[in-house]
Amino acid sequence: MTQSPPSSTPAPIDLPTGQEPLPVRDWETDFDHTHPDYAAAAPEIWEQLRQACPVAHTQRFGGTWLPVRHADVEAIAHDTVNYTSQGVIVGPRPEVDAPMGPAPPITSDPPFHAIARRLLLPPFAPKPIAALEASTRAYCHELIDNLLAKADENASSTDTAIADAAIDYAQNIPVRVIANMLGLPEHDAGRFRTFIHRVIEAPGQAGELPHEETLDYYLDTQVAEHRANPRSPEDGDLIDYLLSVDIDGMPLLDEHARGTIALLLIAGIDTTWSAIGASLWHLAENPADRRRWIEDPDVRPFAIEEFLRFCAPVTMARIAATDHELSGCPVQEGNWVLLPFPAANRDPEVFEDADTFVIDRKVNRHTAFGLGIHRCLGSNLARLEVSVAIETWMERLPEFELLDPALVRWSTGQVRGPRVLPVRLIR
Ligand code: HEM
Repeated sequence: MTQSPPSSTPAPIDLPTGQEPLPVRDWETDFDHTHPDYAAAAPEIWEQLRQACPVAHTQRFGGTWLPVRHADVEAIAHDTVNYTSQGVIVGPRPEVDAPMGPAPPITSDPPFHAIARRLLLPPFAPKPIAALEASTRAYCHELIDNLLAKADENASSTDTAIADAAIDYAQNIPVRVIANMLGLPEHDAGRFRTFIHRVIEAPGQAGELPHEETLDYYLDTQVAEHRANPRSPEDGDLIDYLLSVDIDGMPLLDEHARGTIALLLIAGIDTTWSAIGASLWHLAENPADRRRWIEDPDVRPFAIEEFLRFCAPVTMARIAATDHELSGCPVQEGNWVLLPFPAANRDPEVFEDADTFVIDRKVNRHTAFGLGIHRCLGSNLARLEVSVAIETWMERLPEFELLDPALVRWSTGQVRGPRVLPVRLIR
């Protein structure tokens, strides 16, 4: 019997879903990575493509390629001659030119990329990130207190209750952490999710918005507020820091500072929310892995890396800068090329039992954080948040299961994770 979603579950995100994508004729020559069918079954599609053709193609989005083998993904990630990072989300062509692009450093090419990246290294180094552990853990406990109180209100018996692990838990953690780091008001969380939806899930589909509703306007307002109330770099937040740094004695251009803040806001939230949610989805489905996590604390660091490999959320893109061949396929200048790091993580040429979750996998050089010069700059923070979130959940709510697999809804587009994840808490 199909169960209805729990009445306590709020609507996930009150947003238009954008245009309904056309049905996919076949995944080799007409794929659509924004289609809900792709979101629901991406690992199965990569496996099918690996057998059929290692580089899929579609005429959609102006011509787009999808390599699924680790070797191709790695080669593209290291090739900054044939590919530009000016655009990393398939959609409308970026308006800010290379080598900076609209969101430095992720949209920057060499040699500017190294300059833009170096500026960001100090705040994301291991030491300042480790200092965020206690507050992140306290916040995870607070979320679970709230989730239990809400679940208890709606519980039909004292030993079972229902919660949404994505909405009530996973989505909130990175919002709080990155809002505090940047110095943005936490109560704008709903707005952040709207911006993320527009940029990642439905790029180019929002149409002409009033300027006051755009991410640019929001960030300009926040930057102006920071400029009006300057604080020292020691006492300040990440926006203060970006307004204080210079390149060869010159402050950052306004579009550089704004683009980097936008990147940190979007890269910091959607990715980590997806990784936490997908890890909980796996645990909800696999009682043996839950038991192993509880009984064997030594396995936990390995489990976190395996969650990152098996449930890797982030596919980025490149724009071809030349006409060239990619594993025998004729890529033309201007084509989009997707970099599915999650598919590379499932390549049997590189990982033994690649499609099996092995909780104590010892050799695990996964690509969840990318490869090459753009490798994730926030990986210390991401690992901290995912580890603390799963540890706290498993400490407080060790027994839980999916309410109904059919109720799980995955995000569409280039960041993949559960957006609706109703679970039954067994106490
Ligand atoms: C589990 C969570 C995360 C995953 C899986 C992830 C994944 C990735 C990947 C695959 C890339 C490479 C992009 C490319 O090659 O085009 C990347 C880049 C980046 N990530 Fe993350 N990320 C996560 C969390 C974060 C967080 C929390 C932050 C910071 C708030 C962050 C900041 C960045 C930045 C700034 C870059 C660009 C680096 C550069 O271009 O040099 N990420 N991330």
